[in-house]
Amino acid sequence: MQNLATPLCRRLGIAHPIVQAPMGGSVGPALAAAVAQAGGLGMLALSWSDLASARDQIRETRRRTSRPFGVNLVLDSPQDDRLAIVLDEGVRIVSLFWGDPGPYIARVHERGGIVLHTVGSADEARRSVSLGVDAIVAQGWEAGGHVWGEVATFALVPAVADAVAPVPVIAAGGIADGRGLAAVLALGAQAAWIGTRFLCAEESEAHPRYRELILAAAESSTVHTKLFDVGWPDAAHRVIRNATHDAWEAAGRPASGARPGEGETVARAADGEAIPRYSADAPKAGMTGDLDAMCLYAGQGVGLVRDIRPAAAIVAAIVAEAESVLRRLGAP
Ligand SMILES: Cc1cc2nc3c(=O)[nH]c(=O)nc-3n(C[C@H](O)[C@H](O)[C@H](O)COP(=O)(O)O)c2cc1C
Repeated sequence: MQNLATPLCRRLGIAHPIVQAPMGGSVGPALAAAVAQAGGLGMLALSWSDLASARDQIRETRRRTSRPFGVNLVLDSPQDDRLAIVLDEGVRIVSLFWGDPGPYIARVHERGGIVLHTVGSADEARRSVSLGVDAIVAQGWEAGGHVWGEVATFALVPAVADAVAPVPVIAAGGIADGRGLAAVLALGAQAAWIGTRFLCAEESEAHPRYRELILAAAESSTVHTKLFDVGWPDAAHRVIRNATHDAWEAAGRPASGARPGEGETVARAADGEAIPRYSADAPKAGMTGDLDAMCLYAGQGVGLVRDIRPAAAIVAAIVAEAESVLRRLGAP
């Protein structure tokens, strides 16, 4: 057995260079804690949680694991109140996305914490480091969910690693197995940030039907679009192509407000709240309705997701496969 641990693993207090990507609505304490228990970094995604729920999710995660985990906040709206709770609750790994990390960094550092920031280019990585960011997440446009840049992981990761060395880089986008982990380590990353694969962890909050659609999807099944914009306008994301997308395309790709079925309810949340067509919400456990027509975030690595397994088994399989690939390639 090789040990894949990198200097970043030691800094984060984890055994394996695997981060379960934050996925708003699809991740909760069960998944984050299971990944942490398995030696990876679990991440809660609290950007849209009310303050009480944010606190509860952190406490519940801590109840399930004594290992480190992180919290992600999306910066398209102010996150001062949520960050205060995250820090008060003792979380010391904070990931930021989709905005200027500058105003938040000193507050995390004052409490002895580490700031990760997700970028889509080497220039942006350099700027983030000059502001004080401790580790860069380089997100290639293969990624599922909201996608910040337009450069593919394979070209982005080495460019970012060169731009910010010795600051550690975590690679995101299209990584779903041990071959992907070995590849991004070769490209200069110190860990892989894995989203879509963990939607099919037993502990994820993704609706069972959403998981079925992921299992059925191929690497060519996704589109990069701004279509699902209700709740998060004008923001590019990658989703599995579905009937909502095809009807919009067949209608000549009309602008928001003039699209087929605009405003109609396609599904309902567990509490009965209506989910309109083109909503940015993905199908979550407990939802009912035409889930296939909803926003089905997934990266191009979706074609590599072939089973639903406990998060610990996913982490172990990725580590074992990466080790075997590196051994085969003759790494010392
Ligand atoms: C369902 C879903 C929800 C996501 N939500 C968030 C989020 O709340 N915050 C964030 O920083 N990134 C979010 N992302 C992006 C992931 O953190 C990550 O960059 C991406 O999943 C990596 O690509 P992969 O899916 O190919 O592994 C989301 C991705 C998915 C698939």
